[in-house]
Amino acid sequence: MTGSPFGPASHPETLDPVTARAYGKINAFLAVGPLQDDGYHDLVTVFQSLDLAETVTLVPAEDFSVTLSGRYADTTVPLDSSNLGLAAVLALAEATGTTIPVEVAIEKNVPVAGGMGGGSADAAAALVAYAHLIGCTDRDLIAEVARGLGADVPFALRGGTALGTGRGDELSPVLGRGEFHWVLATSTGRLSTPEVYRRLDELRAAGSSTTGADAGPGAGAAEAGPADPAAVLRALGTADPEALAGALHNDMTDAAIDLLPDIAHVMDTGMRAGALRALVSGSGPTVGFLARDHTHALEIAVLLEASRGVRQVVRTTGPAGGAHLVPPPAAA
Ligand code: C5P
Repeated sequence: MTGSPFGPASHPETLDPVTARAYGKINAFLAVGPLQDDGYHDLVTVFQSLDLAETVTLVPAEDFSVTLSGRYADTTVPLDSSNLGLAAVLALAEATGTTIPVEVAIEKNVPVAGGMGGGSADAAAALVAYAHLIGCTDRDLIAEVARGLGADVPFALRGGTALGTGRGDELSPVLGRGEFHWVLATSTGRLSTPEVYRRLDELRAAGSSTTGADAGPGAGAAEAGPADPAAVLRALGTADPEALAGALHNDMTDAAIDLLPDIAHVMDTGMRAGALRALVSGSGPTVGFLARDHTHALEIAVLLEASRGVRQVVRTTGPAGGAHLVPPPAAA
């Protein structure tokens, strides 16, 4: 596909802005296998999207740029082409041969670099918005561009609850029932995803991680609880938070705590506040605490907010949806 059905790209500012939204996620189950030749690890993971939205508005302009607003707009988010929202637009422009420049205005409501998939949600929302703007309806092409942007981007496009294999980007839908209540707590530090994967490999090589790569994904048990995705899948289908609490698992927990010991303190604090279970989200450092219901989540959040070493506390629910267009406000 080349060009745009909207007219000459030399006057892009005459096009209307397009807004799309996508959601953060938690990995209810994450088993990490050995490092592959392509620099990625084979995963078995169960994603659930959370009702924490990234909203991306593309405003046709003379040049490509990024601006930030929202609760988590901060100086550590890049404003160049390494920004996943802008990278997504540039990748789809290149894949379709389109040259319509836009300002990518991102409203961030997912904690940054927290293992919550906020950057991937920016990419997914930007893809949906830019595809609409340029009139691209080729879903296979959009899915291919999504995979090229990052292992979690395909899930951010799809949302809901899904089993991920391969790099985490080969998805199968999972039938979820009901709504789960989570309290998320960020500690004061940050973690880079590749660094946590590297430390996990180092700990395994030194024999000091309780998670074994040799036996493949799901073999180890870094936390109490079985490393069995079947148990998580069953629990997600029963809408029973107590069952889900017993089945949550993350192989990256040891490596994340090794790099940022404050995580262990945050986990203890939430458990003392009565959470059913503490779970490092993805590569961390955000910790998710599973609650029985809305009231229980409120109680846990209040106690966490009053605790030393906890930076931010957010209540949310899952599952949420996939990336979608947000209609413009109705004309008055
Ligand atoms: O694909 P994404 O950009 O999210 O991945 C960031 C980094 O995390 C990769 O470059 C790789 O080092 C690591 N990673 C991995 N195995 C995966 C996913 C990510 O080692 N399945």
